[in-house]
Amino acid sequence: MIDMHTHLLPGIDDGVGNIDEARGLLDAYAEAGFRWLAATPHVDHPTVHTRVDQIREAYRQVKEEAQQRGITLLLGSELYVTGARPQPGIPLCGHFQMVEFHTAIKPLFAADMVFHFGMLGLTVIIAHIDRYRWFTLKDPAIQRMREMGVLFQMNIDAVQTQRGQTLLESGMIDFLATDNHGSERSPVSLETFSSYPGIMEKSLRLLSL
Ligand SMILES: [Fe+2]
Repeated sequence: MIDMHTHLLPGIDDGVGNIDEARGLLDAYAEAGFRWLAATPHVDHPTVHTRVDQIREAYRQVKEEAQQRGITLLLGSELYVTGARPQPGIPLCGHFQMVEFHTAIKPLFAADMVFHFGMLGLTVIIAHIDRYRWFTLKDPAIQRMREMGVLFQMNIDAVQTQRGQTLLESGMIDFLATDNHGSERSPVSLETFSSYPGIMEKSLRLLSL
């Protein structure tokens, strides 16, 4: 299994606070049967400060801890986008840029942003689509983004909601992930992932893992 959206790097953003907390979470992931994790720290978030210059060192440290537990830790980023030509983030597996938007305001620039990343050879993954009030499957703009190759991630908590179930049934979900911000925030149910083997398989295939 894979969890491709997490804030597991200690002291980097508003996620995990220290290395002991990261170790505890890695233990839980290993026990639940995860073989791949991606650390995706916030980049360019309007309210969260990220220690961008410390990302690589924190990644190296947590990657080693993960390896000891049979888990491959990948590095990516969750880039907050407000326009068609955002600053670069850290692409996951070198090919995928995960982005997030304002939850209430529809990003009318989104298709241009997707095109911009496309020209850089990057596929856009939209983080936690369940959270956006403007995201509806009937919206032609969403269909257009799909045609442009955009991938969609839903947070695992959302499977408990009607909206989450509707999104799952649509076949549009490419990734289920925790958006794990550490043990201080709401506890994350890792067991739920095993109920969605089809999506796990699809995720690994899309990321060529
Ligand atoms: Fe996140």
